[in-house]
Amino acid sequence: MKIDIVVNKSLLSTHVDPDETLLEVLRKKGYTSVKQGCDTSNCGLCTVWLDGTPILSCSYLAVRAEGKEVTTLEGIKEEAQKFGAFLSEEGGEQCGFCSPGLIMNVVYLKKNFTNPSEDEINTFLAGNLCRCTG
Ligand code: FES
Ligand code: FES
Repeated sequence: MKIDIVVNKSLLSTHVDPDETLLEVLRKKGYTSVKQGCDTSNCGLCTVWLDGTPILSCSYLAVRAEGKEVTTLEGIKEEAQKFGAFLSEEGGEQCGFCSPGLIMNVVYLKKNFTNPSEDEINTFLAGNLCRCTG
């Protein structure tokens, strides 16, 4: 079936299978910042924004995104580079596989929360797991 979605402000018209996830479609279309980790809604690696709100694209059927706006890390390049550099400066320089999902949530948090407490930050980011470090 054909769907039209707006990805990073560009129209994406594509054919998808009824059981294809948004994660699969985005990666197939070249948005490879979106990582496939657990594939079971547990690690946060596949986080994208749907109409401005973070979702786990591994557990969201692509057909449900019809008519919606999707933002991936490629769509927030400037903020992503800034936070990526910060991670590196702070010594968070392992493989980086979990960074895109984490950055999507960090940037969302920064845009939508005013002076969040440490507890709020911890709670908000609890779903982002790093696979290669502690
Ligand atoms: S790949 Fe989606 S939550 Fe892990
Ligand atoms: S830095 Fe490697 S998975 Fe997190």
